[in-house]
Amino acid sequence: MTNPVINDHSVFVFILIFTACTLLACDQVHEESGSLNSGQELLLQEEFSGYFLIGSAINQRQVIGNDSRGVPLIKKHFNTVTAENIMKWQHIHPEPGNFDFSGSDQFVEFAEANDMFIIGHTLVWHSQIPGSAFEDENGNLLDREAMIERMRKHIHTIVGRYKGRVHGWDVVNEALNQDGTLRESLWYQIIGEDYIRLAFEFAHEADPDAELYYNDYSLENPSKREGAIRLVRQLQEAGAPITGIGTQGHFHIPNPSLEEIERTIVEFSELGIDVMVTELDIDVLPPAMDYQGADVNISVELQDELNPYADGLPEYKQQELTQRYKDIFEVYLKHHEHLTRVTFWGVTDGDSWKNNWPVRGRTNYPLLFDRNGDPKPAFDAVIDVVQNVN
Ligand code: XIL
Repeated sequence: MTNPVINDHSVFVFILIFTACTLLACDQVHEESGSLNSGQELLLQEEFSGYFLIGSAINQRQVIGNDSRGVPLIKKHFNTVTAENIMKWQHIHPEPGNFDFSGSDQFVEFAEANDMFIIGHTLVWHSQIPGSAFEDENGNLLDREAMIERMRKHIHTIVGRYKGRVHGWDVVNEALNQDGTLRESLWYQIIGEDYIRLAFEFAHEADPDAELYYNDYSLENPSKREGAIRLVRQLQEAGAPITGIGTQGHFHIPNPSLEEIERTIVEFSELGIDVMVTELDIDVLPPAMDYQGADVNISVELQDELNPYADGLPEYKQQELTQRYKDIFEVYLKHHEHLTRVTFWGVTDGDSWKNNWPVRGRTNYPLLFDRNGDPKPAFDAVIDVVQNVN
């Protein structure tokens, strides 16, 4: 008697479904696998353990789990995270006295759930802060005492809330000009140059165990680097509780030179505080202007010639980027004893602020994972360097 259910047609359908499922499963394995080496998935945080922490800045979508491509990469590859925007003054303290911790609480919970070293970015900065932060209720600029009090309240409230949970803070961000002098921000104008020391003291009062950093860009440029060294020495002489210095690392393919990258790490390490790379990315696009810094307030109009790789990165550029990452990581690993952490500014190329700065709407390729979340040749190069440390 023939079974009415199992006939030729159903066998055919079964084989078809089985084959489709097997193919899908393979695809799934491929998608989830980062880079495979003899079937073994290579994870940045595992490869770099023993050298320095390896991290990424993460955004709001990732924190709330809305980025199904980025979140698994973050969990697998990174053991430290920085809030890309969530903890900046304009988000966490939108009006004087009115704090909004919804995003920052989620950020800290996400990082804790994944057992990560948590970086708060950033307490005192001239950007991404509303004008009202510097004003009284009538719109007049605060005087020195009132401004110090507002800064103290801001720092105590935020650092105090995450006491013992956020491990390190970028206390002051970008206080220097390109020539190494102090930037005449409203902080500087209203309080005077001791605003920096005061910020560190307030952060230390709020959480005596937190690591406290000065963070800036273009510190590979000798005059700015010298300015940073002067600043840290002055802070140390004044007894300020600074524990580390972060060089952001918003690099380009041709610059800064490897020698300057190396010199910055070595000279900073001589200050006797921790040294870290806090915002690494490598811009592959043509320079939009004669400026190599990372001032977020600069904006240049989009033109086609400034966006040459909108349809994909040509092979020769991919190789240049790969080589550049390899060279830079050779320096980092040579000096791993001086470095506590290397953090990328974003996870995949699609996340990067470099698609919109200094020109909005470009297609850039600055990170180790492409827009699909797949590891790029630069990822393999970095892994290769760490696996071959002498
Ligand atoms: C950038 C963010 O990545 C962007 O999303 C935002 O629009 C502007 O700020 N130096 C810093 C970071 O310290 O906070 C900046 O982050 C990049 C430059």
